[in-house]
Amino acid sequence: AFLALLCLAAASTLSSISSISSRAPHKLGDNFIWGAASAAYQIEGNTKGGGRGPSIWDKFFADGKHSVDGATGDPGTDSYHRYAEDIALLKSYGANAYRFSIAWPRIVPRGGRNSPVNREGIAYYNRLINEVIKQGMTPFVTIYHWDAPQALEDKYGSWLSETIVDDFEHYARILFTEFGDRVKHWITLNEPLTISAEAYVVGIFAPGHTDLTESYKVAKNQIMAHARTYHLYKTEFAAQKGVIGITLNGNWFEPAENTAHARENAQVMLDFQWGLYADPIYKTGNYPKSMQERNWEYLSWFTPQESEYILHTADFMGMNAYTSSAVYGNVSSNPSTGYTYSSFNFMNGTMVGGESNEGWLWDAPWGFEKLLVYLWETYHYPIYITENGFSVKDENKKPLNDLIQDWDRVNYHDGYLNAMLNAMQRGADIRSYFAWAITDNLEWASGYSSRFGITHVDFDTLVRTPKMSSQFLQQWFKWHW
Ligand code: NOJ
Repeated sequence: AFLALLCLAAASTLSSISSISSRAPHKLGDNFIWGAASAAYQIEGNTKGGGRGPSIWDKFFADGKHSVDGATGDPGTDSYHRYAEDIALLKSYGANAYRFSIAWPRIVPRGGRNSPVNREGIAYYNRLINEVIKQGMTPFVTIYHWDAPQALEDKYGSWLSETIVDDFEHYARILFTEFGDRVKHWITLNEPLTISAEAYVVGIFAPGHTDLTESYKVAKNQIMAHARTYHLYKTEFAAQKGVIGITLNGNWFEPAENTAHARENAQVMLDFQWGLYADPIYKTGNYPKSMQERNWEYLSWFTPQESEYILHTADFMGMNAYTSSAVYGNVSSNPSTGYTYSSFNFMNGTMVGGESNEGWLWDAPWGFEKLLVYLWETYHYPIYITENGFSVKDENKKPLNDLIQDWDRVNYHDGYLNAMLNAMQRGADIRSYFAWAITDNLEWASGYSSRFGITHVDFDTLVRTPKMSSQFLQQWFKWHW
């Protein structure tokens, strides 16, 4: 019935989606990876079961004040129990890979290198990984997607202390030992910027601090933990012959005026969002010049030995991007973490100051193309697009039919995929595209009403229903593989 529905709706609507049928297919090749992504805390549920220890998000949400509707990690989508169904759905969409994260507190409930390992957690991820492989798909594993063990927060302030580098290495060693025979694609950290900015400056993500100096301490410790993990993998686990990288994130910044000042500010914003992590890891072993000049009194500096240790510690650059911003000449000279800037956003190539679907997420595929080319030309590392997607606010519980006929999301993916092709034609080495997200899930502090999934989840019954976007992606990749 769903397919019949799709065909009916498709006949009337697909024709209106720009360029979809007129385009000459550009072949991506058999090795191109496409799939959908998730993160443990956003989908698993069962936060108290399976021997899992508490994470900083459990604590953060416990007071009921940090989420729009009191939402917590339970039930998530109950993927802890329903992972096989989710993987089967993704397979039915034609994907060849699934990106998911492992919850540190399921593997080492108290986090530390001298504390016990939870075999039940290891057994769970073995089941999950084996299921992905059984379905003929490639597992793409994120080692850390924001859920630090609360015990480490209590003990030494987690990311604020360099002790975390040792504990993180210990945790990563367990993963390589237990899963590395089957997992060949590793991402150390997901979006470190979102943590240094949202969790340590803006304060809306766990653990909810607001201190710029702290945020740069966290950034340095994140980079050191990433580099330590890379070196560990390339020495002790070299025989596993996998690839390892980090997933960075940010916007494209477009100068909105033809002035030197606007152009400079746009570059500063790229430096403050991408360069903070990308320059140390992929280019210079140090922070971007613009950041060193503007924020020298807040930065946590690298010694020359550290710079050498962190430089070129990746096989690829993972990137998550959703939107673009316009930058004017009057941006303050201190953009702090890159989240404070005066800008407008773009919708469909037009600058608007008004609305978007979520207040921050603007459909601007041309900016995605520019960003991909910029990252390729600036850093020269193979790019894995590890997230791209579109959310719809669902505060009033819209009817299922409205939510699965997600033509806005189809249009968004169509535009961004074309932008990706253009970037590839302009020379960018892009090797994967993961839609965010495999299913609707817990959108952190925005709760369950912010729906990003290509699969609908009814959070009362936990029933899954494919959306049009999943069928669109299937068709798109059929045409372009
Ligand atoms: C960034 C994060 O990696 C993911 O956890 C989040 O849900 C999406 N993007 C959407 O905001």
